Amino acid sequence: MKKYVVRCLLLLLLSPLTTAKENVTPEDERIRYEGRFDSPAPGTYRTDWPCARLSFGVNNVREEGGSIDVSWSSERVRLNATAWRADGSIASSEIFVGPKWRNKKQTSTLNLPKDASFVTIRKLTQAAPFGTGIGEKALAASVWEYHGVEVTGAEVVSLSPRKRVVEYIGASDSAGYCADGTPDIDGTAALLIDSWLYDNCDLATPGLLANYFDADLWVEAEGGMGLTQNANARIPAFEGKYPLPYFWENQALLTDSSSSWDPTDSNNQLSPDLVVVSLGGNDYNHQHGNVPSNETFSAAYEEFLLKIFSAYESNEDAKILSVCGQGSPAESAFDPDNNRCSPCPHVEDALNDFKINHPELGERAYLGFVPCDGSVVVGDDDIGCAGHKNAVGQRKVFDYLQPLVSEIMDW
Ligand SMILES: *[C@@H]1O[C@H](CO)[C@@H](O)[C@H](O)[C@H]1NC(C)=O
Ligand SMILES: *[C@@H]1O[C@H](CO)[C@@H](O)[C@H](O)[C@H]1NC(C)=O
Repeated sequence: MKKYVVRCLLLLLLSPLTTAKENVTPEDERIRYEGRFDSPAPGTYRTDWPCARLSFGVNNVREEGGSIDVSWSSERVRLNATAWRADGSIASSEIFVGPKWRNKKQTSTLNLPKDASFVTIRKLTQAAPFGTGIGEKALAASVWEYHGVEVTGAEVVSLSPRKRVVEYIGASDSAGYCADGTPDIDGTAALLIDSWLYDNCDLATPGLLANYFDADLWVEAEGGMGLTQNANARIPAFEGKYPLPYFWENQALLTDSSSSWDPTDSNNQLSPDLVVVSLGGNDYNHQHGNVPSNETFSAAYEEFLLKIFSAYESNEDAKILSVCGQGSPAESAFDPDNNRCSPCPHVEDALNDFKINHPELGERAYLGFVPCDGSVVVGDDDIGCAGHKNAVGQRKVFDYLQPLVSEIMDW
């Protein structure tokens, strides 16, 4: 009996590393970040971009399982917290939902099953649920402030970087706007006030591609944004006056003009293998004929591609894929001023001009035309709210683009 007690005591003394709690701060080097984050104060990292994510490895999860308590503040933010097994299957997953009004600090828990090997926490919501114009000034944006994590019953370890890096620059389709919605909320207050509940960047094409190709993912995308002008440009109050390239060049956070970002700064540690540019739809649709001239669009496209290539010039193999289309026959039949394929001839012309003007870089620029004729997105069960693709529709676009990406990247 005495011997047994002594042995138990010894075991207790020897095993406890993984039963203790450990506080891991946002600055801890074992945490990896994807997407643009900044740090407004020590102990806090924040971001507003969809698909932004942090990850870390876990070792020696105790027999009965462990847990992580994530400390964060937000308004209108949804996060997907997932624990993965080493083989890439999912061990546990939770959706964390922040308050709808008034920024609040909270702690959310994810259980760690014994076989968990790493944890990811990804932002599902886009930055400005009420548009990047007046709505953003009046109602707070969807900003995720991350204060750290308390880990129980497991050891935190660093993760090696993923195999590849993809940057995805676009508008609503790239942000996953309405991917979790259904058409029956169209025209209701639920869509107007609570659209953030239906954003899902993880189940949108960028999230699916990154998962499939084992790539780090940086998304700078927001509904309504264009290359030369935003949707409804004649009413700047809706979407603000700056199109997306301005934010890509200047800001860490879309919704905070005081947060600065310089894509050419190598300290940002972003050197993508593939940059997807999915812009142009909002330049041409819902504009009541007020669209850019061919010269204006082509010149802006050239300027943006040049800036991207030059920011990442240290990677001589970096490639750009210009995606356009991904609509359905139903949408243009319903509203002729809303045809996702209408910008495609312009994107194609702009890309051809770019190849003529910059033959060497042009060899690394590709067109990803996703037809709108019903051969990809049909317009029935693949549509979520507000005429945007649901998870099924987003996956169809992923299925269409994945072989193309494999081919041009040799992945
Ligand atoms: C959360 O993320 C995992 C991994 O990407 C995914 O399989 C799951 O569907 C996501 N959950 C939701 C509700 O989006
Ligand atoms: C502009 O480009 C489109 C698409 O290629 C073409 O159909 C149209 O004729 C061009 N317009 C002018 C004025 O050149």
